[in-house]
Amino acid sequence: MKKLFVANWKSNKNREEVEKWMDKFSEFMARQQAADSFNSTVVICPPMPFVELVSKKMKDESVFKNVFLGVQDMSQFPAGSYTGAVSARNLEGFNVQYAIIGHSERRKYFHETHQEIANKIDQCLENSIQPIMCIDADQMHEQFSHLADDVKKKTTVAYEPIKYIGGTETQPADEAVRVIREIIDRYSPKQVIYGGSVNPDSIAPFLHHDEVAGFLIGGASLKAESFGEIIIN
Ligand code: PGA
Repeated sequence: MKKLFVANWKSNKNREEVEKWMDKFSEFMARQQAADSFNSTVVICPPMPFVELVSKKMKDESVFKNVFLGVQDMSQFPAGSYTGAVSARNLEGFNVQYAIIGHSERRKYFHETHQEIANKIDQCLENSIQPIMCIDADQMHEQFSHLADDVKKKTTVAYEPIKYIGGTETQPADEAVRVIREIIDRYSPKQVIYGGSVNPDSIAPFLHHDEVAGFLIGGASLKAESFGEIIIN
């Protein structure tokens, strides 16, 4: 089954590092294409200031055929007087196709509410951007409760057990898959991906589960080499 691999760089990297990453990744993708060995969908979510740069690189290079651009957050408001917020309109022209919404770090450090997250998802869907809503097992019900059924159906969910974020070991795959099945049964989202310490060594037990549509990858996406090793699975 074709999996979705989403790189979340969070607030890491400066311009030079982004350029280097893109160059390395482009070489990697060229090798995959030459070997005809690549069968995944990849999304790169850089910090906002680098959206234009990454977008341009992707447009210029044919090796980025199954690679798409995403953002790590988006305004809950349309274009207008909302100082500091990045609206869907601001992103027009960069070919942004995905947005991570309601990451646990946004909920924790920026105090985002369930309603704000639901508004952001509406903004995404109104602007043809695929929302990837992050949720945790403990608060799952509240996190879904602000979404209409038709919105749930169109939303990709990233199940991210908070205590496994930013480490080296994932939640045991059988436990994670149990939660993912529950999410699918109760809320019928578009698809569910797993996030939390996914790296080239930890990913294997998840790969043969069809319920796991892909992965949200933080730390291990910061180096093009380790991200490359993950996405060839
Ligand atoms: P991690 O981060 O891969 O470093 O655990 C995942 C995330 O927070 O999206």
